[in-house]
Amino acid sequence: MDAITTKNLSKSFKGKYAVKSLDMHVPEGSIYGFIGENGAGKSTTQKMICGLLRPTDGEIQLFGRPASDAEVHARMGVLIENPGVYMGWTAKENLLLQALNIGIENPEKTVAEALEAVGLSDTGKKKVKEFSLGMKQRLGIAAAFIGNPDLLILDEPINGLDPEGIREIRQTLHRLNQERNVTILISSHILGELSKISTHYGIIKNGCMVKEISAENLSRECRDYMRIRVAEPEKVLSCLRQHIEMDSSEILDGEIHLFNARDGAAVNQCMFLNGHVVSEISFHQLDLEEYFMKLMGGEQSA
Ligand SMILES: Nc1ncnc2c1ncn2[C@@H]1O[C@H](COP(=O)(O)OP(=O)(O)OP(=O)(O)O)[C@@H](O)[C@H]1O
Ligand SMILES: [Mg+2]
Repeated sequence: MDAITTKNLSKSFKGKYAVKSLDMHVPEGSIYGFIGENGAGKSTTQKMICGLLRPTDGEIQLFGRPASDAEVHARMGVLIENPGVYMGWTAKENLLLQALNIGIENPEKTVAEALEAVGLSDTGKKKVKEFSLGMKQRLGIAAAFIGNPDLLILDEPINGLDPEGIREIRQTLHRLNQERNVTILISSHILGELSKISTHYGIIKNGCMVKEISAENLSRECRDYMRIRVAEPEKVLSCLRQHIEMDSSEILDGEIHLFNARDGAAVNQCMFLNGHVVSEISFHQLDLEEYFMKLMGGEQSA
């Protein structure tokens, strides 16, 4: 089952679409990396999912039920934009206030669990203003985690963090996902970081979903290939196709790409014997960033 499904989801501000006919599928148990450039529509989409913004059109379902259903709504925890935190208070005091505000039954226990979940249990009397940015972000995640939600919606929780802070958040999210089976929708434009934790991706551009893909299928699409630079790529490729074993091939920007051709020596020899001068041969793996750039540029991968 999907934790989140949106169908034809749209939002316009003064007649201009921020999100347009967006179909999203966030599988239960996944960490779904929602990727898009600034202004692509990530926050607007997430605000609609958690009920902070009313859609202009379309449907949202949570765990197979309409998002307006109070019961499924209560299964969701949200971190969007700056969490309202009192800097002069401790982490525990802030979370207690939040737990009391939303009428949680056993606030002390709930807060202790949330602090534990994000690794802030031992911050004691330390005030939030003395926290590192990473600790503050984790406090925001803890606040979203009050009430043990099954689904977390996190809008750019790693924005502005240094590598250590990013690592802390990544570990926290990984733990929540693995140990408590929390489904996580996380948006970012920092692709490299999403790629280390995401099990699924959604790529949004100009308010439209460009592609949804599982990490498994992505690594299949981002196959290794051999890259060859020569003066006459068309001629050389037709020669290579006759002599070299490979799955497929393409010419992109004047460069020959051979998929699953592992024998570099045979390629070299073939070109030498046929009188072609090679300026470069290398192996290459398409990474997430390149894949993303390709989609953003409107190209389809071969
Ligand atoms: N309340 C609003 N009124 C008018 N336009 C808005 C409003 N909120 C968002 N927009 C516009 O909608 C588009 C999408 O914005 P959104 O904040 O969803 O993008 P984003 O992907 O979250 O970007 P960022 O990476 O900068 O956070 C932008 O063009 C933005 O200017
Ligand atoms: Mg945003």
